[in-house]
Amino acid sequence: MELIYEGKAKRVYKLNNEWLVMEFKDEVTAFDGLRKEVAIGKGRLAAAQTAFFMSYLEGNGVRTHFIDWDGDRRITVRALRIVPIEVIVRNYAYGSFLKRMPMVKPLTRFSKPLVEFHLKSDELHDPLLTMDDITEAGLLTREELQEIINTSLRVNDLLTNLLSTRGLILVDFKLEFGFDGSGRLLLADELSGDTMRILRNGKHLDKELFRMGASAMDLVKAYAELNALLGIKS
Ligand code: CDP
Repeated sequence: MELIYEGKAKRVYKLNNEWLVMEFKDEVTAFDGLRKEVAIGKGRLAAAQTAFFMSYLEGNGVRTHFIDWDGDRRITVRALRIVPIEVIVRNYAYGSFLKRMPMVKPLTRFSKPLVEFHLKSDELHDPLLTMDDITEAGLLTREELQEIINTSLRVNDLLTNLLSTRGLILVDFKLEFGFDGSGRLLLADELSGDTMRILRNGKHLDKELFRMGASAMDLVKAYAELNALLGIKS
């Protein structure tokens, strides 16, 4: 398979004209790649999480790019034209929200889920975008943007409810979307501890642990704990 992209946490290969293979690396990075460690087992755990959450969403009527998981570090997905925007949904104040709104106490619960958009750009550090920025730049129409907001809120409801049945709190998460060959919007990328903040009794079962100084091994243990709680076989 031809390697077409390598990022911090994943490699992407071209399987054929319609399908790609995403391979999750046994590595963890934080602070724009400044802290980077080998994390044996993380790739499989994160691939399993993505397969589990994507399948759950599909089963509840959310169109996603997910096709299949190989039981290890790789998933097969539909090739899409990815929208260069990261959609963040927040239920509680954390992370970059607190940086721009320091008057809000960490982990304050919002009166409703917040949806925000960031440009996918490492050089610019993913700047926050307004809806007008997005439509005026021609990245999306108003209608497409509204569809993305509606889907993101539905994903939040589904994931929040699923996690709450296991005593887990969904703090925030990141989504990406893409268009398929017929111009339909699909949920893309991954859903794992790398892209969601999940708390159990105040403890992070996500990459925040590593950002807070935990070892790569402790992070892998936390991902394994999350999978066990959710009944994800990995
Ligand atoms: O993670 P950070 O504080 O930089 O940014 P955030 O906007 O507070 O992140 C909100 C959620 O999106 C967290 O669950 C992050 O892990 C996730 N995220 C991501 O997966 N990829 C990014 N480039 C930025 C955030």
